[in-house]
Amino acid sequence: MADHIVCTVEELPEGARKIVEAEGFLIGVFNCGGELLAIEDRCSHDDGPLAEGELDCAAGTVECPRHGSIFDLRTGRPKTLPAFAPVETFPVRVEDGQIKLEVD
Ligand code: FES
Repeated sequence: MADHIVCTVEELPEGARKIVEAEGFLIGVFNCGGELLAIEDRCSHDDGPLAEGELDCAAGTVECPRHGSIFDLRTGRPKTLPAFAPVETFPVRVEDGQIKLEVD
């Protein structure tokens, strides 16, 4: 397991996202109403750029921009077709003012 520094807390305000590369994954890190969530930036349907999709913080979801599957940011599970397989999610925490990601 490795820690990756995403950015400082100030650099990811509420509603913002940042895409980073860590351990061979592209990962989207989101600030949803103060809750930090991280999901693989690769849709399980057809490798779409998932983390670039429309964010719905109230529902805790992101919509794949390619064919519209909606994924739960907390579990990585798709809530709508065409995707049916989950994507990876990653623990995020704040330490010394920095946002850190744990990636296996
Ligand atoms: S690539 Fe995401 S729904 Fe098809």
